[in-house]
Amino acid sequence: MGGDPRHVGIIMDGNGRWAEDRGLPRIEGHRRGADSVRDIVRYARERELAALTLYAFSEQNWARPVDEVAALMDLLRDYLTSERAEIMDHDIRLVSVGAIDRLPQTVREPLDALVRDSAENRHLTLCLALSYGGQESLVEAARCLGSEIEAGRLRAEQIDLPRLAAALQTGRLGLPPLDLVVRTSGEQRLSNFLLWESAYAELYFTDVPWPAFRREHFALALDDYAQRQRRYGLTGAQVGGIE
Ligand code: FPP
Repeated sequence: MGGDPRHVGIIMDGNGRWAEDRGLPRIEGHRRGADSVRDIVRYARERELAALTLYAFSEQNWARPVDEVAALMDLLRDYLTSERAEIMDHDIRLVSVGAIDRLPQTVREPLDALVRDSAENRHLTLCLALSYGGQESLVEAARCLGSEIEAGRLRAEQIDLPRLAAALQTGRLGLPPLDLVVRTSGEQRLSNFLLWESAYAELYFTDVPWPAFRREHFALALDDYAQRQRRYGLTGAQVGGIE
C-alpha cells in the first residue's frame, strides 16, 4: 500500500529492564541503547527517511535517581561528540525539541554546535526529543500564540490547525507530521511523546527491548507500516479509490 514513512518517531523503551534481566546496572542498558541509536540512525539514512525523532529524555525523566540522570547526560554528551563526523559526513541535519535550557552545559554545548553546523544538511533530519513533553510543548505553543494576541498581532479567531501546528517546536523546525510511531519493549502507550504530531500516525509496538533493537527490527516495523491503509477519517473504499 504505502511506501516508506516520511517521519518516524521512536519511543526507546526497555533499557532498564534489559539490564536488570542480565544482573547489570541500569546504565548498562542505556549504554547499549546508545549503540542501537547509532545503528537505527544509520539505517534511517540508508532508507532515505525524511525525519526520525527519538524520545531520548522526557520531561518526566528528570525525576529519576540523580545518578541515572547524570549517566544519561554523560551518554548524550558522548553521543553528540562521537557521532559528529558521522552526522556531518552523511548529510544529516540534527535538531532537538524539548526544554533544552534545562540540560547541563556539557550537553548543550555539543548539541548547539552540531545543530548549528548541520543546519544546511539536506538528507535525514534527526530530531532528539530532550527534556521533552508533548503536553508541555502544547502549553508552550499556546503561550506563544497568547503573546501574539496580547501584542495585537493576532486575533483569537485566526487560530486554526495550521497556525497551532506552526507554533509548535516541530512546526518551527519544519518537521512533517509523524507517519509512524514505534515503541519498543512491550508497553503500549504514548507517554507524552509528540501528542499533536502523532494525531494520524500508525502505531507499532514490539516486545524487543531498545538495547536489542537493531536495523532488522526496524525493517520489520517499516514493512508492517507499508501494509497499512491510512484513512484519515475516510472510508477504506474512498481511500482505495484515491490510490
Ligand atoms: C527508556 O528505558 C529509555 C530512556 C529513558 C533513555 C533513552 C536513552 C538512550 C537510548 C541512550 C542515550 C540516547 C541517545 C540519543 C544517544 P527505561 O530506562 O525507561 O527502561 P525500563 O522501562 O526498562 O526501565
